Amino acid sequence: MKIESKNIEKSSYIQKKSFYIKNYGCQMNLSDSDIITSILLKNGFYLSNNIKDANIILFNSCSIREKPEIILKNHIEELKYLKKNGVLFGVLGCFSKKFKDSLLKKSKIDFFIKPNSYKIIPNIIISLKKGKKDKIHYNNYHHQNNSSESYEDITPYRIKNKSITTFLSIIRGCNNMCTFCIVPFTRGRELSINPDYIIKECYKLYKKGYKEVVLLGQNVNSYKWNNNNKDQTINFANLLKIIAENFPKIRIRFTTSNPHDMSDDVLITISKYNNICKHIHLPVQSGSNKILKLMNRKYSRENYLFLIKKIRNIIPNCSISHDIMIGFCNENEKDHLDTISLMNKVKYNYGYMFSYSPRPGTYADKKLIDNVPKYIKKRRLKEIITLQKEHSLFRMNEFLGKNQEILIEGESKKNHEHWYGRNSQNLVVVFPKKKHLKIGELVLVNIIKYTSATLIGHII
Ligand code: 5AD
Ligand code: SF4
Repeated sequence: MKIESKNIEKSSYIQKKSFYIKNYGCQMNLSDSDIITSILLKNGFYLSNNIKDANIILFNSCSIREKPEIILKNHIEELKYLKKNGVLFGVLGCFSKKFKDSLLKKSKIDFFIKPNSYKIIPNIIISLKKGKKDKIHYNNYHHQNNSSESYEDITPYRIKNKSITTFLSIIRGCNNMCTFCIVPFTRGRELSINPDYIIKECYKLYKKGYKEVVLLGQNVNSYKWNNNNKDQTINFANLLKIIAENFPKIRIRFTTSNPHDMSDDVLITISKYNNICKHIHLPVQSGSNKILKLMNRKYSRENYLFLIKKIRNIIPNCSISHDIMIGFCNENEKDHLDTISLMNKVKYNYGYMFSYSPRPGTYADKKLIDNVPKYIKKRRLKEIITLQKEHSLFRMNEFLGKNQEILIEGESKKNHEHWYGRNSQNLVVVFPKKKHLKIGELVLVNIIKYTSATLIGHII
């Protein structure tokens, strides 16, 4: 009897301290969820696999565009009924003051914590449980400052630990101040992570059996570690080289690069090492110089196209992807045609395309007018998506008949008899399984077919 009651006590205690993280937004948020999980586990909390069993629900939010904010709001509404059982709701990640205020009007959120303050989460939760609600609520918002926290003393708990590929943040925040972007406000100033930490983490990942690491940052190319010794400044090219040489069996990817900061050294380093993947995500945003200037992107269409030329010269087999945003303030038909002509010149492998939505607190929101009508934005977006599909097909065709080295990542969702993986160029490849092989192995696949998003082949 005694043992039983102890167990009941223990399980209700565990339940009280169990948390669930719901993720929105980019890889940076996913990577941050691993850091948050690690912080909470260290402080005696428990990770729940089921949102309905958790006593604390953390929404790792994204404010970069309007859409993820709307999705998050709807989810909170749908889950509101859980609050009746005393479940705490915390909103983390990127959110603006405006979004926070609008959430508070409709729903009961217990706390808001921005990306530079995750270490205070356990204390906030404990204090909330003790009933000091309102004060913490308010203080926490004002606790924020613009500096970043590096979390160098924390080994992220990889929630998706069955995977063989994972993320590693190397630089946090952003100093670029593109006029449309909320990131510098929600994530604060740039902070490069100590290379010693990065190497140690890579080593741990290697030992755990990971086969691929994606180095993350809003702008990885501005990575710089000084150590107060000017002779020993480590930039992104140096960091790539160090990781590539120390971990020859790990595939290295990175994202995102701002074209303005992409150096020749980085390109040469990518070309030199087999284990650095031949793919560069290079958001252009617009093909019009007028719009690039209004966006404060610090490069012109000509600079960008010159950079593309250099990439193709230095790394001939490199794939290039983009982010393009249509409908920015004052974008007219000529500007849009400039974007289309730039796309036609580059013929990207793939890309992410968005319609501009003003973000509270940004320069564009405060000083420019969101004057492109919704129906025009819709039409322009449709046009570039259609064009990108044509270009993707054109680029996929270049792989037809070729043998590609693929890291087996898992079972294809559409067909359990098939595996999926990616080639060096970050393109998804699907192929029939073979018995003697397993996930995490590198195989040679001959490409026999393709769609605009997937290469299809068989192991040779
Ligand atoms: N509206 C629409 N898209 C945006 N992005 C960033 N801010 C906005 C905004 N206000 C897009 C950019 C960026 C990508 C991550 O999100 O294309 O590169
Ligand atoms: Fe935003 Fe520009 Fe920084 Fe990218 S580089 S996160 S778009 S401010």
